[in-house]
Amino acid sequence: MANAAAPTPKANMGPAAPRIDARLKVTGQAHYPSDTPVGNPAFAVLVTSAIARGRIERLDLDGARAVPGVLDILTHENTGDLNDVKFGHGSGTSIEDLGPEIQQAGQIIAVVVADTFEAATEAASGVKPAYSEQTPSATFGSQGVTQEDATKVSPQHKHLPQAGDAEAALAGAPVVIDVEYETPTQHHNPMELFTTTCAWTGDRLTVYEPSQFVYGLKNGVAHRLGIDPDKVRVVSSYVGGAFGSKGTMTPRTAMIALAARRLNRPVKLVATRAQGFTIATYRAETRHHIRLGAARDGKLVGYSHEGFEVSSRPDAYVVAGVEDSAQIYAFGAVATKVNIVHADRNTPGYMRSPPVVPYIYALESAMDEMAQKLGMDPIEFRRVNDTMTSPIGNRPYSSRSLMTCYDQAAAAFGWKDRNPQPGSTRDGDWLVGYGCATAVYPTHTGPAAARVRLKPNGEARVQIAAHEIGNGAYTVIGQMAAERLGIDLASVTVEIGDSRLPPAPVAGGSNTTASSCSAVLKTCDLIRARLFHAAVTANDGPLAGRSADDLTLRDVQIAANDGTGESFADVFKRMGVAIIEEYAEFVPNGLKPQAIADLYAGKLAMVGGSHGEKVMYAMGAELVEVRVHALTREIRVPRIVGAFAAGRLMNTRTVHSQLMGGMIWGISSALHEATEIDPRYARYVNDNLADYMIPVNADVDQVQVILVSEVDHDVNPAGVKGLGELANVGTAAAIANAIHHATGIRIRKLPIRLEKLLQA
Ligand code: MOS
Repeated sequence: MANAAAPTPKANMGPAAPRIDARLKVTGQAHYPSDTPVGNPAFAVLVTSAIARGRIERLDLDGARAVPGVLDILTHENTGDLNDVKFGHGSGTSIEDLGPEIQQAGQIIAVVVADTFEAATEAASGVKPAYSEQTPSATFGSQGVTQEDATKVSPQHKHLPQAGDAEAALAGAPVVIDVEYETPTQHHNPMELFTTTCAWTGDRLTVYEPSQFVYGLKNGVAHRLGIDPDKVRVVSSYVGGAFGSKGTMTPRTAMIALAARRLNRPVKLVATRAQGFTIATYRAETRHHIRLGAARDGKLVGYSHEGFEVSSRPDAYVVAGVEDSAQIYAFGAVATKVNIVHADRNTPGYMRSPPVVPYIYALESAMDEMAQKLGMDPIEFRRVNDTMTSPIGNRPYSSRSLMTCYDQAAAAFGWKDRNPQPGSTRDGDWLVGYGCATAVYPTHTGPAAARVRLKPNGEARVQIAAHEIGNGAYTVIGQMAAERLGIDLASVTVEIGDSRLPPAPVAGGSNTTASSCSAVLKTCDLIRARLFHAAVTANDGPLAGRSADDLTLRDVQIAANDGTGESFADVFKRMGVAIIEEYAEFVPNGLKPQAIADLYAGKLAMVGGSHGEKVMYAMGAELVEVRVHALTREIRVPRIVGAFAAGRLMNTRTVHSQLMGGMIWGISSALHEATEIDPRYARYVNDNLADYMIPVNADVDQVQVILVSEVDHDVNPAGVKGLGELANVGTAAAIANAIHHATGIRIRKLPIRLEKLLQA
């Protein structure tokens, strides 16, 4: 039944099927990795470094060893046989050792294993390190940070977008803005903590760990332990939130595997919420210097964007979102540069809509500032600079529906009532502001393989090592199989999240639906071909002699257009088979066949976005109303309207949920989230969910999602543009722009909390 959460499908949209794992989740039958029972587990507790930079000189373990039930303590002195792994080569960080060098606060320095969690916890508090400490560098402006040009040190970013002579264009532009923006450190904080359970059977290891990339983790752990990857199985049937934090291997996994091997007993770790801030990745703080130049009619002539991103001391992690921001308007000339600022921090990583989030916040804020300077409506300013061609290399968009999104969102929102003058609209003590911004996410597609089995009664099983991270992967993968096999979704069993299954890419960059559904589609088409062939070549069947091109699968039958059909059961009988099973490998255009072998080895390449002959993006328009209290400067967001186009939408219910959640995250970025760091010690201060601010129900009022039809045959066989990370992009700028419209105050540093407005 249609309702706000399950919109009626429009053209090129699939049905709002309820999630096939919904009941399992709400009844506790869905086993998250740490829920999985293992026999006689021992329990691990981590000890992490109190300093950010220096060296462990001594590690006193006497107190810890004296606790009854303690079985083992891993330290840098007994873990030297773990192989090194470098950032970017199977690991999210190079800071892998338990010491003695300390390169970040919260670095794991010991793993205490005991018969009970309580004993391990007590013993962990008895591990007494003696450090020699050096003054750490925390972030921008700290003494001792070093800066590098990303194109020199990050292999994926050797070339950043450039077009024409931006300096000359800006120098000659009649209207110019020159502005700087800042975004803070953020942590993913998934509800599910970072857990690892390891169990050995002989020389075979099973790892139960929430993962966005089971093949990456399997191969990474095997490398660290120096064993054959085929001896490692990673199981991650459900992930309780990830947002990028569970996409790359982090140090704990191999440590727990080693502990389990030493004890010859399963070992289970559930790290604490606070430890999650330092043993995994996070979103780095960024700074941006943007210059835009325009003619008086609003046509842009130049765009210059220099980004600065904090990383750890050893690793050149960078998102470099100029790769995407430079594509999205008819900018004229473009100059981009990205700098990596190394500090004594854990290595950052992908988080909710990398690489665009911080960069599009900055660009979409600057677009608003330029519109204001030009005296133009901000939506009309974007219309003037809308384009079907990227300014970088004049490459066409595979499809683009940005202004359709703006038009539909504006109509639903009532944008035409907006008084353009900032500070002009008041409702009692509340200043009312309307703001808008563009959402954009690069369409990524990766290689994937799938196995599909069909039974004569119309039941099917799909196997692919994709990942259910709350994205609806089980459901949309099942829908694609049901559609191609002519059976009900309820007849499809979907198996994912296990490295014994054919590989799928990391559940990152919003590629899961596009890649997995393309692989499932290809595999089902092999089954279709076999069934069609058997039906038309029969001597006596009802479809004998027909052309396979005229057949389809429908209602557990091979069916012709004129209504003639033959049941699966009859065709199977004639074929003399009990089941039909096919395996297929899907490699997107632009990748070599080797991509599948690489994927089996845990190495992943994806295509799409700004790369290739056509540029591929999902887009949307977000319009928000804010209310700022005239006296207290309290900020409320009574409503957001977002309209989005992303090629084929497999399931309007899961899509609606992802887009709504994304906009709520945008509220979070705009007004709430920031990890505070103590600049003296380079330690995170608010490493808990009481002090790390996120929006709760009372902070979220009306969030309206409009689904815009779009067809794109270029992106991938499924026609799907990923949108899991689309709606989170742009919201922060839209809110910042609305706050400016309400108050006349421009805050260029996120999050925008009331004290910033009071000080302005
Ligand atoms: Mo998403 S941060 O690419 O998991």
